[in-house]
Amino acid sequence: MVYDYVIIGSGVAGLNAARLIPKSKKVLILCKKEPWECNTFYAQGGVATAVDDSDIPVHIKDTLVAGAQYNDKQAVELLSKNSLACIKDLINDGLQFDLNAKGELAFTKEAAHSRSRILHADGDATGRMIHLFLLSECKHEIVTNAVVNDLLIQDDICYGVQYYISETEQKVAYAHNTIIASGGVGSIYKYHTNSVTVAGEIQGICIEKGLKLKDMEMMQFHPTVFKGTSFARKALLSEALRGEGAYVVDENGYRFLFDYHEDGELAPRDVVSRSIFDYNQKTGLGIFLSFESFEKNAFRKRFPNIYANFNDLGYDLPFERVPISPAFHYAMGGIQTGLDAKVLGMKNLYAIGEAACTGVHGANRLASNSLLEGIVFSKIAVDDSMKQDFKIDKQNYKKEIKTYTRNKEIDKNIKDRVRKLMWENAAIVRDKESLQKALDEIKEFLKEDIGRLLTLRLLTAQSILTAAIGREKSLGAHFIKEKQC
Ligand code: FAD
Ligand code: SIN
Repeated sequence: MVYDYVIIGSGVAGLNAARLIPKSKKVLILCKKEPWECNTFYAQGGVATAVDDSDIPVHIKDTLVAGAQYNDKQAVELLSKNSLACIKDLINDGLQFDLNAKGELAFTKEAAHSRSRILHADGDATGRMIHLFLLSECKHEIVTNAVVNDLLIQDDICYGVQYYISETEQKVAYAHNTIIASGGVGSIYKYHTNSVTVAGEIQGICIEKGLKLKDMEMMQFHPTVFKGTSFARKALLSEALRGEGAYVVDENGYRFLFDYHEDGELAPRDVVSRSIFDYNQKTGLGIFLSFESFEKNAFRKRFPNIYANFNDLGYDLPFERVPISPAFHYAMGGIQTGLDAKVLGMKNLYAIGEAACTGVHGANRLASNSLLEGIVFSKIAVDDSMKQDFKIDKQNYKKEIKTYTRNKEIDKNIKDRVRKLMWENAAIVRDKESLQKALDEIKEFLKEDIGRLLTLRLLTAQSILTAAIGREKSLGAHFIKEKQC
């Protein structure tokens, strides 16, 4: 049996692609755990969109400024120009965004946006509402606990995927089109905001197959993440809070961010994260997010989930301030694609969402452009594949289907070490020597007798370090500390 499509991932990119593929097609969606265990489900702030035609050039400009002008301009134009139609299509299909008192779409603001243009749902549960909607629309087969461990690539054709269905059993699915929508790399870092399912394995497979990754040094750190728990995955305090009046203070109540950038809390995300990191290093003072400017009922209504979560953690918002720190959040870099969402050099392999590098985000993603990217580029991938109507002949695939050991006993310790290495050496402020040491250590781990999933994770970590070493000057989220003479 040959599927028309195999989609790896059930986040916004994968599920929106599935929504747009007709029911008559045979589609298989694979995801690592439950469908909702993905970054999309946890997204809070919202979806950026051009508000109307006149806002398109402004949205483009904001995206380029935040991205340090390193973005692919054509990709940014595609993103913004398609935003209106793609969002309208979702609303027409039944997705409900929050409305203002006049019953119109309510737009909020986040850092580095020059106007309010972010749609949100259930206040601060935008990702959850989008995910529930897309799941309810899904008319195709979803297999859970299916962990892809290889792409069946021969020459420039992808014949499908190989995946674990348990610790030891593997399956193969052949497909005319394969869509990678497997998200970013969060679990490679010690402290992050991401779902546990997001570990950069498919990026690792691409490296192995000689496919190009792009901009892997461009990793984004969210400035306002709750500091008070010991788990790797940290609770996020949405940028929309700062967009609507929350501000960052030191333990003495001083708003130090204006010492770093004239826009203070609303400067681009890389600037805010780096300033918090630097101020804390220099002064040793604790950093907090303050909600003083909010009235209690208004806060509860606008941010119901953050209110409830922090209530459970013992904070009475908006009256109490919350200790924060930056943490890994988002990968601008990924599998290099063209403007048609196709993986470079491949005929029938697409990459969309956070796994891909379309070049849209440049050196630093503008807040809330990621859900939009998933929505817009999933449509581009589906439209392109329907037009191409590429067919594989599975008899032509002559390579061996390998049996990989999923995990080995030594993997856990190495995994923990790698997460620490990446957090300490390839995070907010970097220097060449530390990056090189971390890279040498990763290369040693790759020589060990380790499991398949760790190997893939290590290949991706290696690509981040190599790309960071290769970029000698700071740009956007990639900040290299000058050597002291
Ligand atoms: P994901 O939603 O991460 O889905 C990845 C899927 O791939 C999962 O189903 C996973 O199981 C599957 N997968 C991974 N590896 C494998 C494998 N080996 N085999 C099989 N399946 C695999 N962006 C915004 O625009 N606005 C926001 O407000 C916002 N808030 C955020 C808040 C948080 C806490 C986080 C973490 C991110 C936020 N982002 C936001 C970023 C945004 O949510 C993500 O970039 C986006 O949802 C990624 O969507 P995706 O479909 O590419 O991947
Ligand atoms: C947030 O709500 O702060 C996250 C927004 C984003 O990552 O785009």
